[in-house]
Amino acid sequence: MTLKRLFIQHLRNLDSIDISPSEQVNLIFGENGSGKTSILEAINVLGVGRSFRSHKHKPLINHQQDSFTVFGKVSAEGTEIPVGINRQANGTATFKANGALVPSAAALASYLPIQVINSDTFQLLEGSPKVRRQFMDWLVFHVEPGFFQVWKDAQRCLKHRNSLLRRDRMDRFELATWDKELAQYSEQIHAYRQVCMTKFFETFYSLIQEFIAIEGIELTYYCGWDQNKDYASILADSAEKDRRQGFTQIGSHRADLRIAVKGFPAAEVLSRGQQKLLVCALKIAQGYVFSRLTERRCIYLIDDLPAELDEQHRYLLVRWLDSMGTQTFVTGVEQQILIDAWRQLPGTEIKLFHVEQGKIQAVINSR
Ligand SMILES: Nc1ncnc2c1ncn2[C@@H]1O[C@H](COP(=O)(O)OP(=O)(O)OP(=O)(O)O)[C@@H](O)[C@H]1O
Ligand SMILES: [Mg+2]
Repeated sequence: MTLKRLFIQHLRNLDSIDISPSEQVNLIFGENGSGKTSILEAINVLGVGRSFRSHKHKPLINHQQDSFTVFGKVSAEGTEIPVGINRQANGTATFKANGALVPSAAALASYLPIQVINSDTFQLLEGSPKVRRQFMDWLVFHVEPGFFQVWKDAQRCLKHRNSLLRRDRMDRFELATWDKELAQYSEQIHAYRQVCMTKFFETFYSLIQEFIAIEGIELTYYCGWDQNKDYASILADSAEKDRRQGFTQIGSHRADLRIAVKGFPAAEVLSRGQQKLLVCALKIAQGYVFSRLTERRCIYLIDDLPAELDEQHRYLLVRWLDSMGTQTFVTGVEQQILIDAWRQLPGTEIKLFHVEQGKIQAVINSR
């Protein structure tokens, strides 16, 4: 999958941008505050409906305007699919794909699978299980077409069960009905995640050896409950406790991807540099597995590459991206540092873009 055209209007400081990116590497450089991250943000908006910086939509709209638009042409399996999104300050949003309105951002997500590497990526190690669940579910969502519906059904059951738990008079019969349904969906979610994670772990372990010299990295998938027990009976047993807490404490909504080094959480033992490399390896491994399982490719957005990785590891990351053949958008302040990262791959098609005060210009690549 590649983005063949990108049009952005009134998003943050970007006024009106219209570019034809390279299907391989796009290097975006410019001073601090020029609008580089905003361009990546716009691509992310096109892929998943929202920014990677904030869940709020309003801050994305240019202060002088009352809506923003991002439009792109996605090339996939020989066809070109137009996708677009418009968000108004009053909260209205319009999503379009292939000439028709689509109901939600989730419906757009399958057109443009995106991986982001930026300073927030560390949250994978330091953040709450929710961050890692989202990381796992990105892969499951993109490779298992049935997953999203089951996930939505489980969320619905969970909401009903939680509201029932909070009622003064809880109807035991009603609770048993929701438990039964929730157990069924949770087991399905677990099955989807387990299959995907098994494939992900294989790829990750083989990549990691090449990338970082850290011994004893171990990934474990935790399904959200004691797997030696039947989830339906766990739910029944924990009803009283859940009632006191006012919510369902155990289940697939508590799943996690545990990342440890010699038995300790990675965030507690690895240096900052090692953590950076590890999260890059996790992100790259996902792209690999996604390609292997779907024969499609995701797009990588890498914000401020020089700030995130030293020279040696930039080469390594670049080699990986290259071997995957993904379309990549990379930002940085200095043009030359970005170009140099691809020095060892002279055959790659690189397009250079200079951003200045919200305007973009394609620059002749003189490497
Ligand atoms: N809603 C908005 N309307 C107008 N300008 C905005 C809005 N939100 C943010 N900005 C401004 O847009 C500019 C571009 O921000 P962006 O984060 O894209 O810069 P950048 O090139 O990535 O900078 P850096 O190198 O520091 O990361 C900033 O000056 C920011 O203050
Ligand atoms: Mg930035």
